[in-house]
Amino acid sequence: MNKYYWDDKLEYLTRTRDLYYNDDYLEFLVKSVWKIDKPVSMVDYGCGYGYLGLKLLPLLPHGSSYTGIDMGEQLIRNAEELFQNLPYQSRFIQADINTINLEEEYDIALCHAFLLHVNDPIHILQSMISRVKDGGKIICFEPHWISTMSSYYINNEDQSKLIPLGFLQKLYEQDTKRDGKDGNIGIKLPIYLSELGVKGVQCRVSDKVNFLDSNDDTNLKLYESLKMDGFGEVPGEETEFINRLMERGATFSEAKNQYDSQLYLSKLFSPSSSLTYAPNMKITFGTVKK
Ligand SMILES: C[S@@+](CC[C@H](N)C(=O)[O-])C[C@H]1O[C@@H](n2cnc3c(N)ncnc32)[C@H](O)[C@@H]1O
Repeated sequence: MNKYYWDDKLEYLTRTRDLYYNDDYLEFLVKSVWKIDKPVSMVDYGCGYGYLGLKLLPLLPHGSSYTGIDMGEQLIRNAEELFQNLPYQSRFIQADINTINLEEEYDIALCHAFLLHVNDPIHILQSMISRVKDGGKIICFEPHWISTMSSYYINNEDQSKLIPLGFLQKLYEQDTKRDGKDGNIGIKLPIYLSELGVKGVQCRVSDKVNFLDSNDDTNLKLYESLKMDGFGEVPGEETEFINRLMERGATFSEAKNQYDSQLYLSKLFSPSSSLTYAPNMKITFGTVKK
């Protein structure tokens, strides 16, 4: 049997989450925006190793609880190990969110970098909303890839030489039309949640701008996180790379241009590069009224 894709991705997940938010920004959201001042029960859809629980539980009132659901058996085991000695109420469920029948209702349904991986995000949002108590919240931290791709600046280079935004914009749109998975879902969620009846919908953007500073030699950890996140990745064998993109709807010249840009970037990017990068995650939230 094939190994489940995400079960091999613990290292990728743990080494890239720090690219998105400063801890003080998460604290600002919990205390000043969501104003959570009583213990809450949370359910995290596609929890992975429990990233959101690890970040949010220390900021929430004592007595708050966290339930994580994920399809990855190994990831769920990793999460259980990470939480077992922490002073928080936590529970992990290994299941496919498309078929799970959750009975409990929670104060907050959450997800982080999850909805972009599902074929029918509206169906999943409906399921999340159905698990929230009257007056509770749904909170989705999701990416907006084209905005992410527009937010790299490296070594005083013209960005258009490294990242062909027009082509990527079309590629992402075509990918979504083909299988429903949407790397730009973050920017669409305010509209989706409002259409599903969620009230008081608002959206924020992640605060962090990563700075790889060539004048600071303590930056290796950030360089490695960026590499792990796929930035400056070597494109591999040219014909295979081009064929894969053409299968996704690119013309030959678009695919070749993307290959050349990616190869150039892979040679340019090193621990001594100067780079700024803002992931531009979108954080959409609102209140569920029943
Ligand atoms: C990019 S990871 C994000 C994990 C975690 N939320 C984080 O940000 O670290 C996407 C997660 O969604 C989970 N996932 C995707 N489809 C799923 C499904 N149908 N049921 C349960 N989990 C699913 C994967 O197993 C994976 O752990």
